[in-house]
Amino acid sequence: MTLVLVVDDVAPLAEQYAYDLKRMGGYEVLTAGDGRRALELLAGAPVDCVILDLEMPGMDGLEVLRALERKGSPVPVIVYTGTGSYDRCTEAIRLGAYGFIDKAEPMPRVVHEIETALERRRLRSEVSTLRRQLGRETSLVGSSAAMVQLREMIARVAPVPSAVLVTGESGTGKELVARDLHRFGPHPSGPFVPINCAALPESLVESELFGHERGAFTGALATRKGAFEAAERGTLFLDEIGELPLPAQAKLLRVLEDRQITRLGGNRPVAVDARIVAATNRDLDAEIAAGRFREDLYFRLNVHPIRVPPLRDRVSDVPALADQFVTGICARFGLRKKKMAPEALELLMRHDWRRNNVRELRNAVERMIIAADGDTIQAGHVPVEVRTSGKVADGPGAAGRSFQDLKAEAERRILIEALERNGGHVSRTAQELGLADHASLLKIMRRLNIRRADPGVS
Ligand SMILES: Nc1ncnc2c1ncn2[C@@H]1O[C@H](COP(=O)(O)OP(=O)(O)OP(=O)(O)O)[C@@H](O)[C@H]1O
Ligand SMILES: [Mg+2]
Repeated sequence: MTLVLVVDDVAPLAEQYAYDLKRMGGYEVLTAGDGRRALELLAGAPVDCVILDLEMPGMDGLEVLRALERKGSPVPVIVYTGTGSYDRCTEAIRLGAYGFIDKAEPMPRVVHEIETALERRRLRSEVSTLRRQLGRETSLVGSSAAMVQLREMIARVAPVPSAVLVTGESGTGKELVARDLHRFGPHPSGPFVPINCAALPESLVESELFGHERGAFTGALATRKGAFEAAERGTLFLDEIGELPLPAQAKLLRVLEDRQITRLGGNRPVAVDARIVAATNRDLDAEIAAGRFREDLYFRLNVHPIRVPPLRDRVSDVPALADQFVTGICARFGLRKKKMAPEALELLMRHDWRRNNVRELRNAVERMIIAADGDTIQAGHVPVEVRTSGKVADGPGAAGRSFQDLKAEAERRILIEALERNGGHVSRTAQELGLADHASLLKIMRRLNIRRADPGVS
């Protein structure tokens, strides 16, 4: 039943109104004698519409409206006034009141006014539901057979609360898949909490995941919830799970088995109801064989495996992806949307994108947009390593250039590739390249003028 709240400091008037509204509109009616009481009732009762007197001692109607505006209250308010002060009524409308009526207005008109207000609120909420549903559309571009299969798999697995393990090469879209699993899951409006296991210092992994009580360790100045608690009624995305140190793997396994955590330094178990999605670009079988990943944890996580196909296995998606990136990047740079010449697209489709898949394609497109002065992106704007599939020296770019230039370019490419492989992680890249430490890598990067924000170096 519709619940109307009448706010008027003159009690007999409010009572009379309430009586008439019950009789003529069939509403349930509450009354409040002042602004404060009105706000209290609004906070506690499912009020559908408010009839609000503007002139009240203490907190007047305009102040009530301001308070409701601050709270973002969706309840429609109709102000009524006995003084006929036009200015105050306009001010009320400006503050979000739905309409105003005169206290002397016949009751059927008032009922009509309430009904229109309710109808408008209903439409509003319908629009926002539709918007939300539209927002639920996938952000994964591509209609290749592999992508269609991937989307079907996401749709099938998303509503199930068990853990999902998303695997695939670097830059294939694992994070987008994780977000879709959340979006199409049972609690799309709940939190999505991403944790990059590779970026967590080993000493902090456990407190990040499970939280800690105040004083649990030096520096734990206050109690803090961990990612598991933050993801309550939502999704915890454990990215790069293959990088989780072994002791943390053991703890994680226990949590998944018991469905409860205990904060560091605490003794009270807290139930875990977050959906767990883990992702890795590592070959976990090989990691298990090498003793770096626990097999029992692997089986816990791998209830529903989703493999994201590499871009070279879905070349037919390249045009749609490139188009989406051109649109997005041009808009971000404030440029008119550039066209892509068929020959340029052809080159993009021939490249194998092994290094960083969709992310690599996006970075290449960004460089091409910058390189193209005019409205059209030509084949000549395709980055040399893409045009020649990584073979710098025999590419068209090699002719007439000095040895020094070519050498620097090759070095640049080696570094950018290695950085990309390591997600821009400087220490890990240095290690991979056999450099002494991250400072040596930074020095070379400076010499070659590679900034960490360069495309490909995230
Ligand atoms: N199918 C797709 N449609 C549109 N954009 C995509 C698609 N796949 C990936 N991308 C984009 O490519 C980039 C890389 O995707 P994402 O971060 O999800 O990859 P990842 O597999 O998690 O990579 P990594 O292993 O390096 O963490 C992002 O900018 C993402 O928006
Ligand atoms: Mg990722």
